[in-house]
Amino acid sequence: MSNWSEPRVAVVTGGASGIGLGISQRLARDGAAVSIFDLDGAAAEDAASSIRDGGGHAIGLKVDVTDRGRVEEAVGEVAEQLGAPLILVNNAGRASFMPFLEISLEHLHQIIEVNLVGSFHCCQVVLPHMLEARWGRIVNISSSSTYSGTPRMAAYVSSKSAINGLTKTLAREFGPRGVTVNAIPPSFIDTPMLRASAAAGDLDVQASIATTPVRRQGLPEDIAAACSFLCRDEASYITGQILGVDGGRS
Ligand SMILES: NC(=O)c1ccc[n+]([C@@H]2O[C@H](COP(=O)([O-])OP(=O)(O)OC[C@H]3O[C@@H](n4cnc5c(N)ncnc54)[C@H](O)[C@@H]3O)[C@@H](O)[C@H]2O)c1
Repeated sequence: MSNWSEPRVAVVTGGASGIGLGISQRLARDGAAVSIFDLDGAAAEDAASSIRDGGGHAIGLKVDVTDRGRVEEAVGEVAEQLGAPLILVNNAGRASFMPFLEISLEHLHQIIEVNLVGSFHCCQVVLPHMLEARWGRIVNISSSSTYSGTPRMAAYVSSKSAINGLTKTLAREFGPRGVTVNAIPPSFIDTPMLRASAAAGDLDVQASIATTPVRRQGLPEDIAAACSFLCRDEASYITGQILGVDGGRS
């Protein structure tokens, strides 16, 4: 059985690396035509090209999600080349580790701009297509740090907590019109972002594995599997949920 009653077009932001790449590959395997939006345009095109080599449908576009004009232009390109985007995965994000008293307002704004405002732009630009079709799936990638708080991550955790709030609000606002909105807060997923944080001494991967109930690190495929499920036709009764995919850490 296909995941969808008809072909679907997806937008995955930050889809050139890590979790976003895993989600792009998985949605393409599920049969969606995937448009990968990433700050790194060459990496987005490489990711799309490897999906096409495997028989899937994908395009890669250089998009900074903080640039509203570029988001509008890129969503227009997607609609023209692939069809109306009815699946949106807001995954592009930036980590930030800094003692609270050292966080400048400029840095706070930069993190909020990518992690929150970027998702806000993409939702506002893609939603009209979903409303016209009376069908849509939005999955926002937040963070398990929003459950407990994490020292030295005030800017990041604030931005990701706002994503959970945005998710619940949009779920209520657009549920009556066929659009579901859910969030996945990952924890300790093996990606370039996590490896860079570990290399900088901001995270201890082995210690986190030791305190994770399933005793392993997460993989992009773990998040992709949950995202794939939330995007299916048969997930239409699930909305406004924050689905932890974290090996039981929270
Ligand atoms: N890895 C983890 O353990 C973990 C845990 C919790 C939350 N997350 C969240 O998951 C998401 C993906 O993280 P990842 O670990 O795969 O990171 P990653 O750094 O491997 O990938 C992030 C991608 O987003 C792109 N990107 C960054 N800013 C962008 C912008 N302004 N516009 C468009 N693209 C942009 C980057 O170029 C990169 O390709 C992030 O939102 C992150 O906060 C990750």
